[in-house]
Amino acid sequence: MISQNSIEEVLGTAKVDEVIDEFVSLKQRGVNKIGLCPFHNEKTPSFTVSPAKNIYKCFGCGKGGNSVQFIMEHESISFPEAIRFLAKRYQIELEETNVEEIDPEEKLKKDSFYIINDFAKAYFQKNMMESQEGKSVGLSYFKERGYREATMKKFGLGYSLKKGDHFTQTAVEAKYNIESLRTLGLTSKSDFDFFRSRAMFPIHNLSGKVIAFAGRTFSTDKKTPKYINSPESEIYNKRKILYAMYHAKGPIRKAQECILVEGYTDVITLHQGGIENVIAASGTSLTIDQIRLIKRYTENVKILFDGDAAGIKAAMRGIDLILEQDMNVQLVLLPDGEDPDSYLKKVGVDAFSTFLKDQAEDFIFFKTNRLIDEVGNDPIKKTRMIKDIVDSISKVRDTLKRSLYIKECAKLLDVDEQILLGESNKSIRADIKQKRLKEEYATRQQQRQQQRDSGFEGLVEPIPGDQEEQRDHSQPNKLVINDDYQERDIVRVLVNLGDKIYDEEQKTTVAEYMVINYRELIEMIDNQLYKSILKETIEQVDAGTEFKTSYFTNHSKEEVRMLATDLQMDPYHYSDWDGKSLYLQTQKMPDENFIKDGLNSILRLKERKFQRTLKKVDDMILGEKDDTQIINLLKTREVIRKQLSEVRLQLGTVVPVSF
Ligand code: UTP
Ligand code: MN
Repeated sequence: MISQNSIEEVLGTAKVDEVIDEFVSLKQRGVNKIGLCPFHNEKTPSFTVSPAKNIYKCFGCGKGGNSVQFIMEHESISFPEAIRFLAKRYQIELEETNVEEIDPEEKLKKDSFYIINDFAKAYFQKNMMESQEGKSVGLSYFKERGYREATMKKFGLGYSLKKGDHFTQTAVEAKYNIESLRTLGLTSKSDFDFFRSRAMFPIHNLSGKVIAFAGRTFSTDKKTPKYINSPESEIYNKRKILYAMYHAKGPIRKAQECILVEGYTDVITLHQGGIENVIAASGTSLTIDQIRLIKRYTENVKILFDGDAAGIKAAMRGIDLILEQDMNVQLVLLPDGEDPDSYLKKVGVDAFSTFLKDQAEDFIFFKTNRLIDEVGNDPIKKTRMIKDIVDSISKVRDTLKRSLYIKECAKLLDVDEQILLGESNKSIRADIKQKRLKEEYATRQQQRQQQRDSGFEGLVEPIPGDQEEQRDHSQPNKLVINDDYQERDIVRVLVNLGDKIYDEEQKTTVAEYMVINYRELIEMIDNQLYKSILKETIEQVDAGTEFKTSYFTNHSKEEVRMLATDLQMDPYHYSDWDGKSLYLQTQKMPDENFIKDGLNSILRLKERKFQRTLKKVDDMILGEKDDTQIINLLKTREVIRKQLSEVRLQLGTVVPVSF
């Protein structure tokens, strides 16, 4: 236990603005400091820190407290952990009573996960520096790549042995819980080490704790995946993490620029060369959460593309998302066949830095110039191109910046500035109108759904005259009503990927996995066509029949056949729920993404259904006079609320940017 004296010392010493400043970019505003709230997504700052009162408060989401609460909330750690964290930061020596006895709160699962990962990191490092195998394979590999020992230490690089279970044995002997080792993905279900004979890269969170590992193979066999990663867990959500952000956040803030590269090794090489404002989105796509994380430190992003970047088109589309966050985006295209790692090694740091400075091109101009090259003199293509560029410019919120772009692009495109301006205003107005329409539509739907939901448990009569739209199944793309999109998306994943193996060991298919997750929803599916497909799948799974995607394209009912065909022909398309254009994944790593796609749709659908039911129960509570009924309703409410928060916990909002 930490003594009360020590706690008070920490509370008295830690300055809330200093503590928060390490995580959030704060600007002086009168006597207070303000910044973008780290606890909810916002575009204009409502997160306010009062150095005088030594507290913070977000006027957007309502979170607030002192420096200890901030650390607890931000790092998801317990009170004593937060006190220790701050004590370290302010070099305060804590008085602890019964140090032998572990604080019960420290038994919290999360804390133990961090401890285990820390142990694993030290183990992999020790392997590399001390064992014969580690030295001759791991250490010499990193040395060959030009890494100095200090660099290896900074990034915690290590080596996992060939032998099948050495790590697991060692960890179990050291009394680490085998279940936790499995949850963290360090140990397989059959008690082998998950990482074997790989170069190990720990992945740290913002405060430097190890939350996961990436392991690079030494094999050149194409069938071996180059990198394998720890699975997601309570402490690791890869969509919210940027590799090396812990090391880069200070330098990013100082440089007021964030350099984004693709690979772990690119990051490390650049850091070693003294360019330390560098991070990577480990994996293939950049999410809105990650963009917002960068924005906490700077609004300027420089993206380095490999010289052979084939996906540059897809990437350009994704970059509009970064523009929408009011960030300045520059692109640098590396020479053919080079990645940042190889190119820096080739030309040296000075030439590399100069190259970045000289070659960095503002995204809008980059896009314009590339399209100009592509389009040539074709007038029809040129019109389309102008629209495309104007669309990107319209995403820029800052009016001054926007007019500058218009001026410059008019010159580049050799068109009248007024034309571009007119087009841009049109595009902005269209965006606004679309947004308003969507909002109105959502409100209408909500009202209608409330009325309909009232009949859900037979407690309240449906309001007479409420006309539910009849669906036209022959035109599935007609007006999207209710949860049509989510429902359709579940079917989409099923008919495209239902036969894929989801779990190698258990030999379960994606269809089986999805059925487990949507079974309880089946009666709530509105669209009868989708419902029949989902029902038939349940029946097949229950009967143990092998699921074939061709079953639906060969179905005896024409409408089923047509829908399945449509969905298989056009498996990826833009969804536009929540008013954003979300680009569905299933791009580079389909093995992972289709599971995510499917599960996300199910979770989204659950969220919507539960939300409405909750709203309906609330309304009933308000209108109810009988106390016993009210108590019953409150109980029902609690059950639904729990289900809803469970679903929300599982649900990550993902807006990938393809790389
Ligand atoms: P690269 O193939 O460019 O690897 O993948 P790299 O990081 O440059 O590694 P070296 O230099 O060949 O050793 C870029 C990034 O894509 C992710 C990793 O984050 C990697 O750093 N990736 C790649 C995977 O997650 N899995 C893979 O199988 C491959
Ligand atoms: Mn590389």
